[in-house]
Amino acid sequence: MSGNISKIVIRAVAITVSDRCARGEAEDVSGAILIECLEAANAEITQKIVVSDDFAPLVETLKKTADRSEVNLLVTTGGTGFAPRDTTPEATMQVIEREAPGLAEAMRFESLKKTPTAMLSRGVCGIRGNCLIINLPGAPAAVRECFAVIQPVLAHAINLLAGNTQH
Ligand code: MTE
Repeated sequence: MSGNISKIVIRAVAITVSDRCARGEAEDVSGAILIECLEAANAEITQKIVVSDDFAPLVETLKKTADRSEVNLLVTTGGTGFAPRDTTPEATMQVIEREAPGLAEAMRFESLKKTPTAMLSRGVCGIRGNCLIINLPGAPAAVRECFAVIQPVLAHAINLLAGNTQH
C-alpha cells in the first residue's frame, strides 16, 4: 500500500441502536467500546449517537449522518439479531447505494470461530456516497471482535471511497 493510504483521516460517527439505551434504562457499554475501537484505529470521532430501534427514525438518522460531507465512516452497534424490533440491517439496506458484503461475511466468518451465535447477526455493510456504513452486533464482546476483523482494511476502504485509487 502506498504512503497516502495510511494518511487518510477517518471521520467516524458511532450509532448505538438500542431501545433500552435510548430510554436511559441501560448503560451504553457497546457504544463506549466502539468509540475505544475507533480511536485505536486513529479515527476522529465526529459524533456519538444513541437511538431506539424505531425503524423510520433510524433510517433518517443513518441517511442524514452518511450525507454529512465530513463523515466517511458510520458504524452502528445493535439491532442486527432476530428479535422483532431488530431492523438495523433493513434500515441500512434502505440507505446504502452499494453493498459491501465482504466486510459482513468476514466478520461473521471470524466470529463463528468464537461463538455459534455469530450466525444470528444479520448485519450488513455498504456504501452511501463517500461514507462506509458498518453494522456491528450489539454485544460488547461482539463489537471488539467484529471491529478487529475490519480494522486492517478500514483506511484503505475509505481512501478508495475518497477517490484515491492508487495502489
Ligand atoms: N459476534 C461476535 N463476534 N461475538 C458475539 O458475542 N453475539 C451474537 C451475534 N454476533 C456475538 C456475535 C448474538 S448472541 C446475536 S443475537 C447477534 O450477534 C445479534 O446481536 P444484536 O441483535 O445485538 O445485534
